[in-house]
Amino acid sequence: MSGGPNKAPAKPLTLGLAGCGKMGSAMVRAWMQSPFVAHIDILDPSALPADLEQHPKLKGFKSGISFMDCAEHWDGLVLAVKPQIMDEFCPAIAPVLPEDVPILSIVTGKTLGYYTKQFGKDQPIVRAMPNTPAAIGKGMTVACASPALHDTEKTEAHFLLSCLGKVEWVEDETLMDAVTAVSGSGPAYVFYLLEALAQAGTKAGLKPDFAMALARQTVIGAAALIEADETPAAKLRENVTSPNGTTAAALSVLMNGTWQDLLTEAVAAAAKRAKELSR
Ligand SMILES: NC(=O)c1ccc[n+]([C@@H]2O[C@H](COP(=O)([O-])OP(=O)(O)OC[C@H]3O[C@@H](n4cnc5c(N)ncnc54)[C@H](OP(=O)(O)O)[C@@H]3O)[C@@H](O)[C@H]2O)c1
Repeated sequence: MSGGPNKAPAKPLTLGLAGCGKMGSAMVRAWMQSPFVAHIDILDPSALPADLEQHPKLKGFKSGISFMDCAEHWDGLVLAVKPQIMDEFCPAIAPVLPEDVPILSIVTGKTLGYYTKQFGKDQPIVRAMPNTPAAIGKGMTVACASPALHDTEKTEAHFLLSCLGKVEWVEDETLMDAVTAVSGSGPAYVFYLLEALAQAGTKAGLKPDFAMALARQTVIGAAALIEADETPAAKLRENVTSPNGTTAAALSVLMNGTWQDLLTEAVAAAAKRAKELSR
């Protein structure tokens, strides 16, 4: 695992992007803030979101043919479409995508081997797994690269991904299933924790809206503390747990094994599903 090259690209990048849905548009918004992204050609059958439609650095395409006509100008092609369309999409673009245009894919479950099969072993590929906080620059992205990716291209990919938040690289692609299970799906576990805490508050006598307001700000505050302080989570927890106090009473229930076991089981289930999807 490594943090990767934290440098700006040598020159502003021109990109192609296929798929401008939730993740694609979040990436475009982040990249539009950067002087190192010069232009993006965007392929999506739906209309671009209103805030992107008239942007001078963007051009929308509905037809794959005219989109691919621009491919020779790209420093990279970003794939943010649903996995289900990939078996049709990749063979359609492979014959017209220049071999030296790196692909940066965030498509869940599509492996480096899948792309090598579709585009050939010389096409540089980055497979990345971001998560939804990427939309506000607080994402966690883990990436791995095919052997054909050069250092300069890795720097560019790292730069693009770091516009979305933190980035780590793994050499061992098999780790991507566990990555998907922890950081890819992880925000949903935290949202569920918030829901569960609010519901428990309601059972303890608070009005539902009030319980949700308290739970919400508590999760926001705890996350901000983790971000502001390098202290390990276990130490932060110990610091707010007085012997024989209220937090200790709750933690003695939570830490009797069940919670950790449940989460371990949940992460294993997500990793298993990620593995199934990448077949
Ligand atoms: N959402 C996440 O948290 C997350 C996290 C990590 C990775 N991912 C991965 O990121 C990818 C995109 O996810 P998403 O949540 O952004 O999905 P999404 O909102 O459904 O976006 C996909 C977009 O691709 C468009 N599209 C469909 N066919 C196309 C084609 N032939 N060419 C170009 N665009 C096409 C869709 O248009 P229509 O709606 O008109 O079909 C839609 O706008 C998926 O592979 C997903 O697994 C998502």
